[in-house]
Amino acid sequence: MEFADPIIAAPSLLAADFARLAEEVAKVRSSGGDWLHLDVMDGHFVPNLTFGPLVISQLRPHSDLVFDVHLMVERPGDLLDEYLAAGADTITFHWEAEVHHHRLIQRIKAAKKLAGIALVPSTPVDALTAVLPYVDQVLVMSVNPGFGGQSYIPASTDRIRRLVELRKKHGWGYRISVDGGVNSGTMVEVAGAGADILVTGSAFFGAPDPAEYLRRLKSLRRSP
Ligand code: DX5
Ligand code: ZN
Repeated sequence: MEFADPIIAAPSLLAADFARLAEEVAKVRSSGGDWLHLDVMDGHFVPNLTFGPLVISQLRPHSDLVFDVHLMVERPGDLLDEYLAAGADTITFHWEAEVHHHRLIQRIKAAKKLAGIALVPSTPVDALTAVLPYVDQVLVMSVNPGFGGQSYIPASTDRIRRLVELRKKHGWGYRISVDGGVNSGTMVEVAGAGADILVTGSAFFGAPDPAEYLRRLKSLRRSP
């Protein structure tokens, strides 16, 4: 990842009005969003439920945004083919939810999609070193997953820095995505630590001027 690459803004649909999903997706696009972050929750891995492949496949014809699918589910391999067929461009599953990480990464890559691994705030970054060479993105959860609108956990900043350090040391190629509590008050710190993708839910959908909010987010400087 080059320092010069612009920040990728990934508004999360979790904070949208679910009665008007297609319009909300259009708003992400017209406000300058790059990726659409889609939070899949199963009520087991996290204590909340959202949507699955059916909703994603029905949104697909309404948007040309990159569909960035974040699986917060147990046994992510079970419905992987369905998420791939639904039109996901990236699929990120949780390190804690799977034993055979490489097998899933291979399945995602065989479908020519980007493979991501996510970690909850209590998982040490260095526990992932065996999979880091093989993933396209690492999603750092900066809140405990399950709900939007929570506060950014400050220790996340050092975890982002550690991923930057490991990437540089080993010449690995993943992007670093940060998810949870990213807003006007935290975005400078998150970008400064070296994040490449900023996921933002409630701050985007609650912004008085969402386009201006994303302009600011995308113009942030990252650490060299
Ligand atoms: C949390 C989800 C996040 C969430 C972020 O479990 O993974 O993507 O939508 O929401 P905010 O930006 O409101 O913290
Ligand atoms: Zn997410």
